[in-house]
Amino acid sequence: MIPSVLPTYNRAPLTFVKGEGAWLTEADGRRFLDLGAGIAVNALGHAHPALVNALTEQAHALWHVSNLYNIPQQQALADKLVEHTFADTVFFTNSGTESCELAVKMARKCFYDRGQPERVEVITFDGSFHGRSSAGIAAAGSEKMTKGFGPLLPGFVHVAFGDLDGVTNAITEKTAAIMIEPVQGEGGIRPVPDAELKALRQICDDNGLLLILDEVQCGMGRTGKLFAHEWAGITPDIMLVAKGIGGGFPLGAVLATEIAASGMTAGTHGSTYGGNPLGCAVGCAVLDQVATPAFLEGVSRKAGLLRQKLEGLVADHPEVFEEVRGVGLMLGLKCKASNLDVVNAGYDNEVITVPAADNVIRLLPPLILTEDDIAQAMIRLDRAAKQIEAQLADA
Ligand SMILES: Cc1ncc(COP(=O)(O)O)c(C=O)c1O
Repeated sequence: MIPSVLPTYNRAPLTFVKGEGAWLTEADGRRFLDLGAGIAVNALGHAHPALVNALTEQAHALWHVSNLYNIPQQQALADKLVEHTFADTVFFTNSGTESCELAVKMARKCFYDRGQPERVEVITFDGSFHGRSSAGIAAAGSEKMTKGFGPLLPGFVHVAFGDLDGVTNAITEKTAAIMIEPVQGEGGIRPVPDAELKALRQICDDNGLLLILDEVQCGMGRTGKLFAHEWAGITPDIMLVAKGIGGGFPLGAVLATEIAASGMTAGTHGSTYGGNPLGCAVGCAVLDQVATPAFLEGVSRKAGLLRQKLEGLVADHPEVFEEVRGVGLMLGLKCKASNLDVVNAGYDNEVITVPAADNVIRLLPPLILTEDDIAQAMIRLDRAAKQIEAQLADA
C-alpha cells in the first residue's frame, strides 16, 4: 500500500525534534552535528534568536495579505537586496524551483518585448540542478530527472560542464540566455573557475545574451561572499536565490537588472505566497546578519580551518576519500567508497552530511558553525571513515 506521504524520498530512519545552532536532537535523545543544514538552508543554524524573534513578532502582527497590497517587509527585503547586489529589482518566490521558472520567463519576455521573439533558448550545463518543475528538469536535462516525464519543456540546450567552446557553438539566433550555478551543488560540489565565469559574462556581452546565475545553493554567504559570483568580479543579469535567504522559512527570490526585468509588467507573473510578511520578516533578519563584512570574513576563516582539517582526513583515510573540493562552507568530499555508505556511517556516528552526484558527500554546515563544532565534525567524520575501513576490511 502506498504510504500516506508520497514516497519520492529515500528517507534516513531519523526523526529530529529540536535544533539549536549546528546541532539537532533526535527523538531518542541523540545529538547530531548538522553539516547539511537542510541542504544549505539553515544558514544561521537552528533556532537562531534573531530569526525566532523576527518570525514570532511578525506572527503576532500579520501573517498574510496578498500581493494585491503593499507589504512593508517585502519592500524592506527588496531594498536591502538591491543595496547589497547588482540587482535593480526583486521578485519573491517560495523556492528555488519557482525562481528558476521566473528567470526563464523573464529572459524570454525581455527579448520578446525587444522585438526578438525567436530568442527563447537557454544554454545550460550537464550536471546542473535547477529544481523539479517542468522547466527545472528540462533545464538540467539529466535522464535521472526527466525519464517518464515527457514531453519535456522545449528551449534548453545542454553543454558539457566547463566546455566554453561548446557554449559558443551552441549559440544561435534563438539563444536568449546562459544559465549556470557558480558552484554546482547537486552535481557534486563543482565550482566554476573564476576565469570561466568571466568568459561566460564576456560571451553573453558579445552576443547580446542574458547571464542567469543560479545561486540557490551557493549564495547567501555560503562561499564567504554574499553571492558566489562576487569572487569572479562579474555580475549576472538575472540571479536565482532561495534556501539560505529564508534560513529555514520557505523563501526564494529572483534578482535582476532593470533591462533584464523590463518585460515583467503588471499581470505577467505572480505568486500567492511569494514575498509574504512572515517570509520577508525572516529574510530581513537573515540578510542583516549575513551581509556584514565580519560575518562573511568569519565564514571564510572557518571554511579555511575546516578545509585544512578535511585535507588531513582525506590523507588519513585514502581508501575512503579521494579529495576535498568546493568553496567556503560549500565543501565536498569525493569518495572512493560509496558516498551513500559514508553518509550512513556518518549517521551512525551522529554527524549529518548530504550525498551528491559524482560519488561526493556534501558538507554544507550552518554558517554560524563554531571552532568547537569543527573539532566535533572531525572526530565524528574520522570515526565514520574508520567504520567504512572496517567494513572494507571485512568484505
Ligand atoms: C542550484 C539549485 N537550484 C534550484 C534548486 C531548487 O530549489 P528548491 O528545492 O527550493 O525548489 C536547488 C535545490 O537544491 C538548487 O540546489
